[in-house]
Amino acid sequence: MKLYHIRNLWGMLQTTKISEKVSCCGNKQRFSSSLLSGDIGRFIVENTEIVGEDSLTPEIKLRLLTAKCRFWHANPVLWPLPDPYWAIYWPGGQALARYLLNNPGVAKGKRVLDLGSGCGASAIAASLCGASHVVANDIDNVSAIATIINCELNGIGPVECLSDNMIGSQPKHYDLILLGDMFYDEALADGLHRWLDSCINAHGTTVLIGDPGRASFEEHDIKRLLQQIAEFELPKSVQMENYGLTCSTVWRYQPKLSTI
Ligand SMILES: C[S@@+](CC[C@H](N)C(=O)[O-])C[C@H]1O[C@@H](n2cnc3c(N)ncnc32)[C@H](O)[C@@H]1O
Repeated sequence: MKLYHIRNLWGMLQTTKISEKVSCCGNKQRFSSSLLSGDIGRFIVENTEIVGEDSLTPEIKLRLLTAKCRFWHANPVLWPLPDPYWAIYWPGGQALARYLLNNPGVAKGKRVLDLGSGCGASAIAASLCGASHVVANDIDNVSAIATIINCELNGIGPVECLSDNMIGSQPKHYDLILLGDMFYDEALADGLHRWLDSCINAHGTTVLIGDPGRASFEEHDIKRLLQQIAEFELPKSVQMENYGLTCSTVWRYQPKLSTI
């Protein structure tokens, strides 16, 4: 089973209003043609809300898409950017960030990679814990801009944002790799599993995975090699937004590897 595609999630959450659909339609061309890279930051600021209280990490503020934002109520086809995974704080990332903030020694002084960083919350948590260097990697360029905006919101300097696909690349030296809600697609999960092995083999990297128990994760081969290190009950609003998932768990991946 796949992660509920964000448009489905979006669709479930929306109360579509015909009048707003019609008024948005006239603006589609204008949105699309005006969104050159320099404008994306402004677009994010104008079309998201600053939230925090309703997540597992109320101390981290994020710009997310909420019911107060105009696109929440608009037809999703009017959204002028790639699907905004970065505009949702996923339950796996929430658990990871909560775990780091509860245990600051895990990231303190470490070189940290948040892979599939979305809104950047796990990277921000690592930075708040005193990581020596933090990289937020997401193949969606817009995520990088959202992450920089969210860093500023939380009073920290921008983390390094990379948009290349690192999975399968030569492993670089990170002490800690964070993966929030990244096992939603079988091919992605398989590639990640192989690449994580190469990172651990090359650099002894610690790998932490946050996941709310999605079937695609539970059924993956990597699952039986994981050690549970924390579990958090999700806030009621997060449960409702995520089709009734109730908890999110942090796992450590520490396989006994020989040589690859
Ligand atoms: C479900 S979201 C999770 C975001 C964030 N980790 C969280 O928990 O809030 C998955 C993210 O992974 C990103 N992604 C998908 N494939 C990727 C890849 N090969 N490398 C880096 N990021 C990827 C998507 O763009 C998306 O932002």
